[in-house]
Amino acid sequence: MANTAELTVDGKSYSFPTLEGTEHEKAFDISNLRDQTGYVTLDRGYKNTGATKSAITFLDGEQGILQYRGYSIEDLAAKASFLEVAYLLIYGELPTQEQFATFETSIRRHTLVNEDMRKIFDGFPVNAHPMGVLSSLVSAMSAFYPDLEGSKEDTTDQHIIRLLAKMPTIATWSYKRGLGHPMNYPKNNLDYIPNFLNMMFSLPVEDYKVDPVVAEALNVLLILHADHEQNCSTSTVRLVGSSQANIYSSISAGISALWGPLHGGANQEVIEMLEDIKADGGDVSKYVDMAKNAKTTGFRLFGFGHRVYKNFDPRARIIKKAADDVLSKLGVNDPVLEIAKGLEEAALHDDYFVSRKLYPNVDFYSGIIYRALGIPTNMFTVMFAIGRLPGWIAQWKEMREQKEPIGRPRQIYTGATLREFVPIEKR
Ligand code: MLT
Repeated sequence: MANTAELTVDGKSYSFPTLEGTEHEKAFDISNLRDQTGYVTLDRGYKNTGATKSAITFLDGEQGILQYRGYSIEDLAAKASFLEVAYLLIYGELPTQEQFATFETSIRRHTLVNEDMRKIFDGFPVNAHPMGVLSSLVSAMSAFYPDLEGSKEDTTDQHIIRLLAKMPTIATWSYKRGLGHPMNYPKNNLDYIPNFLNMMFSLPVEDYKVDPVVAEALNVLLILHADHEQNCSTSTVRLVGSSQANIYSSISAGISALWGPLHGGANQEVIEMLEDIKADGGDVSKYVDMAKNAKTTGFRLFGFGHRVYKNFDPRARIIKKAADDVLSKLGVNDPVLEIAKGLEEAALHDDYFVSRKLYPNVDFYSGIIYRALGIPTNMFTVMFAIGRLPGWIAQWKEMREQKEPIGRPRQIYTGATLREFVPIEKR
């Protein structure tokens, strides 16, 4: 017999079904809680709340396991291409050669962005943060690719291809403009990642050849960022999409959520923190002490700890190794890598950090690699967004296909009770 959860409240007993996922995660199904009992749950930050059933990404925070559609992140990072992983996340299976060829060719053909989007882009101040620009321009795409009123055609696949194809092109505009360099058009004879790198780094005045070491490093980084179940930006995408908002607006909202320093913006904060430590003489133990006394020092160690991983972040392990490999292959000697390792070492042996389960997360080493690849700090979170795009798309599509109801949490009201209106002259 299936398990049930019994709840006794106000002297009455209620029974709620339990459910178990394919990886044995257990939940109480409280969909009818309020109807039956008149109570709601209070779970600030949703630490205990499963917002949906999902078949995309499995994560075990205690064991440090991350899988996309049943494939381990370690396997995918070592063996797959980013676009294969994108296909896997969005369509549920690894593509056959034929499916991949069709998918990849369609993306290749849609990399060009409508010239009128450039006019919108030109209206931004030169120093605008690239994440704000990206979020705005992705939202603007909805004006360029609206679904025809009353059309019965399902255009989701076309929108998916456009997003995957055009977002890297748009992302490079802010970088180029910041340098005062001309923007590059995509070159459709190049693969996805080399095309992005070419738009970022080629100049009309000299030849640019994509370094395979750089392309491979980026491939791994994008795969590691591609999905992470119901994180803040993904939940945002699903919530916005649950109102039947279009995919561009939903993903634009996800980009905004990712921008925050407690989410994707942390990779920028980490490198700035490491730079500050370096500028201050590189004394790691001083900063470990400052982090331990955060209440008085106000110093916060970015890139440590995670809401769901309780022992280690499997992505951080892969990234740390990749950072070593990439820097040595590129012959880059970045002192902040040593500072980062020193900080990790000190923290992992310090009771304060161990007892609080504070160990490096995905954001800790990624910035060091981005920097070695020539990507500037204010573009780090944009790189995260390019990586996360297939995950957002997959989650948006799943939410629609599951016909999820509009997301509408409740609250516990703590404000004033009913009172009489007092006219302004009597206040
Ligand atoms: C992510 O990859 O989205 C971050 O690790 C944050 C999270 O999962 O909560």
